[in-house]
Amino acid sequence: MSMDKEIPLPDIGDFDTVEVIDIAVKAGDTVDIEDTLLTLESDKATMDIPSPATGVVKEIRVSLGDNVGQGAIIMVLTQDESKEEVSKVEQTDSAGSTENNSPVNEGESGMDEQVQNDSVEQEASQVLQSMPRQAPATPQSAETVGSSHSAKAHASPAIRKFARELGVDLGLVRGSGKKGRILKEDVKSFTKAVMSSDRVFEKSGGFSLPEIPPVDFSKFGPVESKPLSRLKRLGGQNLHRSWINVPHVTQFDEADISELEAFRKSKSEAAGKEGVKLTPLTFFIKAVVVALKKFPEFNASLSPDAENLILKKYFHIGIAVNTDQGLMVPVVRDADKKGIYDLARELAELAQKARDKKLSPNEMQGGCFTISSLGHIGGTGFTPIVNTPEVAILGVSRSQMKPVYENGEFVPRLILPFSLSYDHRVIDGVAAAEFTRYLGTVLTDIRHILL
Ligand code: COA
Repeated sequence: MSMDKEIPLPDIGDFDTVEVIDIAVKAGDTVDIEDTLLTLESDKATMDIPSPATGVVKEIRVSLGDNVGQGAIIMVLTQDESKEEVSKVEQTDSAGSTENNSPVNEGESGMDEQVQNDSVEQEASQVLQSMPRQAPATPQSAETVGSSHSAKAHASPAIRKFARELGVDLGLVRGSGKKGRILKEDVKSFTKAVMSSDRVFEKSGGFSLPEIPPVDFSKFGPVESKPLSRLKRLGGQNLHRSWINVPHVTQFDEADISELEAFRKSKSEAAGKEGVKLTPLTFFIKAVVVALKKFPEFNASLSPDAENLILKKYFHIGIAVNTDQGLMVPVVRDADKKGIYDLARELAELAQKARDKKLSPNEMQGGCFTISSLGHIGGTGFTPIVNTPEVAILGVSRSQMKPVYENGEFVPRLILPFSLSYDHRVIDGVAAAEFTRYLGTVLTDIRHILL
């Protein structure tokens, strides 16, 4: 037998209402526990709302642009009662066997929630009491920029409350639960790791950013105040966090892409017939993948405790796309498995979606390494900011014909300037220079890309 279940909006943190910016399902879709139903966005953050149950979407009670608050019914799911029984049994089992580890279990009934909130407060205060007193401020980002990332994290309301009590930015915590869900143990381990790490700035005599004093510009001439777009504000927070957390170094290099350009031009007409525009960026993506395979530490992220390097065995490449609202970074997934035409097509589609504001959160997640190309504009080099938690980013400038001295004479060659900014905690200067040199070789000898 089937029954209908209304799905209320769970705890959304400190907000009264938040705007619906994406609806990830439609009527008739089958959803599983933890599948994303909606994406909400406040001034400070975006957050995915996961399904608390399995079922078929019968009705969607919200529309894009609606402002919704905790408890509002967002959807109705039709559930198979026999399956629901099974899932309830599973919940009971898991609640009995592990401490709050079941995502389904957390916050499911009002009573449980209350009991859990009480124990959350107790536990939070226990953890706080066990912390060394001289080091209260480390995840400074939790207070300053963390809220946006916390909201994106995959965690139940009870765990969010627990994290809030401790001042932990959930965006920095790696979830060990089902589908990466953050469990209480993850928050505790993160807190312990941070508090015992050398990164506690207070220990070394204090570290706080001096504020830029406000200036009344109207004293000097007429002015106008123009609000930053939401994307600029969110993007700015990400850039700022990376800038202050990551010790950046930028390595500059150049490649002779005369052959690559000749090959690209020779294929342009055929590509056009397939409806594809072959821009240089498509080849740069391919070349980067070849270099990432040779230098795996560039295809990695630091663990939250900064003690391990998480090496990725997949090659998802982020591409910085300029839009009228600000910068977006859609991700080309599995770039190693795609041919040049497919990559070019996907790149064009993602860039268009970015400009039309139609990228889904999923299309902007999971990147391993980012390319920022200003080659269509000009310039001879720039220092891009690492797109954390990635550890390196490639900046591409405009290629130019230049005289190159070869065998006793100058010959005209097409030279591409590029730069690599990297996280110096992970990558040494020598490795960076080797990476850019190898990338230059790959771009020059296109057999590396094509074979
Ligand atoms: N050198 C010389 N010419 C280049 C070049 C390079 N490195 N890269 C691109 N071009 C040329 C292309 O060949 C194309 O020329 P054509 O129209 O004569 O064929 C032209 O520039 C335009 O290329 P474009 O259509 O923009 O494609 P792309 O694949 O190079 O770039 C995007 C696509 C989406 C990445 C790009 O449009 C964009 O938004 N870049 C901005 C990224 C950004 O803001 N970065 C800053 C972050 S700090």
